[in-house]
Amino acid sequence: MFEIVTPPEPDKIIRLMGMFAADPRAGKVDLGVGVYRSPEGKTPVMAAVKSAEQRIWAAQESKSYVGLRGDLGFLDAMRRLILGESVSPDRVAAAGTPGGTGAVRQVLETVHRLNPSATVWISDPTWPNHPAIIDHLGQKRKTYRYYDAATGGIDRGGMLADLAKTARGDLILLHGCCHNPTGADLRSDDWREIAAICARTGAIPFVDMAYQGFGAGLEEDAQGLRHLATTLPEVLIAASCSKNFGLYRERVGVVLIVTDGKAAAEGVLAGMNRQNFAFPPDHGARVVQEILGDQALDAVWRNELERMRRAMEGNRRALAEALRAETGSDRFGFLAAHRGMFSLIGATPEQVERLRAEHGIYLVGDGRMNIAGLTQDTIPRVAQAIAQVLA
Ligand code: LMR
Repeated sequence: MFEIVTPPEPDKIIRLMGMFAADPRAGKVDLGVGVYRSPEGKTPVMAAVKSAEQRIWAAQESKSYVGLRGDLGFLDAMRRLILGESVSPDRVAAAGTPGGTGAVRQVLETVHRLNPSATVWISDPTWPNHPAIIDHLGQKRKTYRYYDAATGGIDRGGMLADLAKTARGDLILLHGCCHNPTGADLRSDDWREIAAICARTGAIPFVDMAYQGFGAGLEEDAQGLRHLATTLPEVLIAASCSKNFGLYRERVGVVLIVTDGKAAAEGVLAGMNRQNFAFPPDHGARVVQEILGDQALDAVWRNELERMRRAMEGNRRALAEALRAETGSDRFGFLAAHRGMFSLIGATPEQVERLRAEHGIYLVGDGRMNIAGLTQDTIPRVAQAIAQVLA
């Protein structure tokens, strides 16, 4: 059966991971896939995660199935973390998923089933897996203007004009914070404008929340999403614990749906899980629940997350500063204003290729840099290379 099949090309992020692993050069620098690295260049298991795992190991007596939507305690803890007190729990349906990608997939497939004519509007640019999943499902999609490469900020006028063209039932896919790949985030007045547009056109916001706590802080990063939840009848959310709990390979994600039809929505989500993978993974979800449900562990986790966030901010400032010194200009000043792990540095695919071939510096082909992959040691070298190649 497979002799005649050409396998699909891996997307640009996955391809780059393979190229980096195969590169024998000692000084290579991985600024590709979105994985946090400490100032020492490590991706450690977070301290609260280690403690939670120890407790689970000691107390857990069975690994029998939990439920199609996963553990209800985990779902409630995630609802609180993401939505806070913004909406009543009676209006929030939830289901666990294998990672944030699993959540994105479950939301999109649910919408595709319920409303096959809906168009999904994605930002230009966005994370490559968004259009890939939409296309895989055969959904209609359009892009809305988002990034203004000239300023390193958002093309507000373009974005709002495009979103005004949405129709009732369309989905508007938004990044909750730390926009991937640009690093340029919506401001609170943008969220208000988008809520007003949705109220007017009947489009439904779908928020991908993959980096809560990496931008301005855990609460701050959720404000835009919470504004939508308090003002609109329906909001769809896909969230990930890969980054903020460092649980990448454990695959911990959640779908939250703010709706007046909670019971029906939970039934639909349970059925969707059953057909795609039956039960969501439990171990990582249990770790998260253990941390969020214990004051002391929760404090340890919040502290470490805040240290990570500040380290990324420090990398941004240091890189912008080093580039100012190298180029004698403020051309890369926008890097310090961006939020989260990623920024587009404004490199062409050819320049990205030269950074890789000549300097062993790996960026995604669209010029996306994982800021969290930098260290104090690599920043001067990376700044020098960028100044040289992008001169
Ligand atoms: C990224 O954008 O690098 C991460 O979210 C990892 C992934 O799955 O693409």
